Amino acid sequence: MTRKLFVTTALPYANGPFHIGHVMEYIQADIWVRFMRMQGCEVHFVGADDTHGTPIMIAAEKEGITPQEFVAKIAAGRAQYLDGFHIAFDNWYSTDSPENVELSQSIYRKLRDNGLIETRTVDRFFDPVKGMFLADRNIKGECPKCGAKDQYGDNCEVCGAAYEPTELLNPYSVFTNATPVLKPSEQYFFKLSDPRCFHFLKDWLNTPGRLQPEMVNKVSEWLGEHGEKLADWDISRDAPYFGIPIPDAPGKFFYVWLDAPVGYLASLKNYFSKNGGDYEAFLKDPAAEQVHFIGKDIVSFHLLFWPAMLKFSNHPIIEKLKVAVHGHLTVNNEKMSKSRGTGISPLRYLELDMNPEWLRYYLAFKLNSKVEDLDFNGEDFVARVNSDLIGKYVNIASRCAGFIAKRFDGKLASSLSDNAKQWIARALTADGAERQASIAALFEAREFGKALREVMEIADVTNQYVDEYKPWVLAKDPEKTAELHEVCTTALILFRQLTIMLAPVLPSVAGRVAEFLGDAKLAWNDTKGGAVYETMLGRTIGAYSHLMQRVDPKMIENLFDKPAAPAEAAPAAAENEAAGIEPIAPEISIDDFSKVDLRVARIVNCEHVEGAGKLLRLTLDVGEGRTRNVFSGIKSAYKPEDLIGKLTVMVANLAPRKMKFGVSEGMVLCASAADEKADPGLYVLEPIEGAKPGMRIR
Ligand code: 2FM
Ligand code: ZN
Repeated sequence: MTRKLFVTTALPYANGPFHIGHVMEYIQADIWVRFMRMQGCEVHFVGADDTHGTPIMIAAEKEGITPQEFVAKIAAGRAQYLDGFHIAFDNWYSTDSPENVELSQSIYRKLRDNGLIETRTVDRFFDPVKGMFLADRNIKGECPKCGAKDQYGDNCEVCGAAYEPTELLNPYSVFTNATPVLKPSEQYFFKLSDPRCFHFLKDWLNTPGRLQPEMVNKVSEWLGEHGEKLADWDISRDAPYFGIPIPDAPGKFFYVWLDAPVGYLASLKNYFSKNGGDYEAFLKDPAAEQVHFIGKDIVSFHLLFWPAMLKFSNHPIIEKLKVAVHGHLTVNNEKMSKSRGTGISPLRYLELDMNPEWLRYYLAFKLNSKVEDLDFNGEDFVARVNSDLIGKYVNIASRCAGFIAKRFDGKLASSLSDNAKQWIARALTADGAERQASIAALFEAREFGKALREVMEIADVTNQYVDEYKPWVLAKDPEKTAELHEVCTTALILFRQLTIMLAPVLPSVAGRVAEFLGDAKLAWNDTKGGAVYETMLGRTIGAYSHLMQRVDPKMIENLFDKPAAPAEAAPAAAENEAAGIEPIAPEISIDDFSKVDLRVARIVNCEHVEGAGKLLRLTLDVGEGRTRNVFSGIKSAYKPEDLIGKLTVMVANLAPRKMKFGVSEGMVLCASAADEKADPGLYVLEPIEGAKPGMRIR
């Protein structure tokens, strides 16, 4: 069944660049979108920056620019990530937009008219040092539900609970660390405690197909048996606040979480207005659906407040909404941490020239439809990508395509024997059913890992076929030309099938394969029945060029954030600076380091150099069966006789340097402060006893 879809992901705060968690969520949604489009569905995939709130206001203030300028700067940096990982939103917009103001205010007015808004004077946290009311995210403390430390004032990242900032235990201001004081302020509340909300949410959450069963259970607990756990929600913030003004309430703004989810609709509306679509008609269309991807940490906003707001403002999207919740990305089964050096920066990934489709494949292979955390493990990443994408998939084309070009003028065989057809059937069916149907069902159900396992089973059978008929052996026997033609044609037919099924995950590779095979577009319909090979027989294909490199495990070493220097290092750094000891030089890669060939050298002779004020002449044995002549500026620190017979370390592959007193064939390593004449002086390096001349230092 083709579906009419509006697909969204959580809107990222416009206070910093994307982190790897954003990229994972967008990749998950992007794969699904591409797959659904291949099924002929109409899909509108939109995103936006979540721009409002105090953190952005404060960050802009720090930079001396307006929040709008700040947000524009962040927005300008989005494309490099999205394009870099082949994430193809149809529209990227902003919650700081006229559409969002209009839609948010209209939803609010309807809620008010429906008796679901109430004002109350409440005590709000105020930073006595900074002299301002504190937004939820400017207050931290212990979670009132689970006791986790350093949680924000709105929800707990550990247990997912949502609460009011005043419920935090031991609260403190993130600006000044001061204990906030309570000050009265008139606030606007959305009456989530109204029995209408409970009855609606109970039904809505339990509508089949709306969300994962584990989410239904979790959120149902938050309702209480009779709605007794649902508390009213403070939707207002006092000026100064970067946000949308609350109608008829001077000096009051919507709390960012009220207008943020409205941003999905604002982006869709903006997109339709740009491309000639009809926003109102889409909302009215009973067949249209919204499928929304979010992380498990922001479920309370999306499954309590937002649906209730939509419902009681009579917004039609409420009937269309389905939510797909995913877990978090961990590294080696731990939460990512910059200070432990386990954070992955998506930009660094791209800067290291790592192929974005490796990551798309790896994440997809690990993704399922459940709310489970997904672990990134470097070794596993290398093994998975190299084994599946290179060893199984690309390998098929690289073993067969060349023969078609060289031996058959690029033309595929015009017919296939029954044997070849049987191999095709063996690869593409399981238990008598076409695998494409089960693979399609798995993709649609967001069971990407299972889908890809099945795809790899097709690759396994294809490789068995190639291994059995060995085109490289057939190619040597002139009598086997027809067989060679058939084997390579059959393998490429299956390779095309694999490419179609991998296309949602590997869009760039699929595009290049389509070009090479002469397909205007790779269509899922070509995975069905006779379409698998009919259009391929007798077809002339283009030249094959290598599709993907193996992952070099060395790349993984550089992928992680460098651990932050421990806090206690700071005084030591200051002392070092005072002693003239230079700070650490910019980072280099292991490849850079390995260019320098350091060797253990024996100082077989050392003497003064006539006429040279600073130099000693060293005769060094580096285990080469000859000695080297090296001049070194260490006269101020050593007498020649003190050095003779000692071991030291030299740069052995430094280009020889012609000096006034002769040629220097290397350099001896010494430690010193920036000024080598100043205290504490100059020290020739000496390896610990046992090292032998010629040993390499690595
Ligand atoms: O948690 C976050 O990063 C929020 N910016 C998500 C907002 S999703 C939606 F409501 F806009
Ligand atoms: Zn908690």
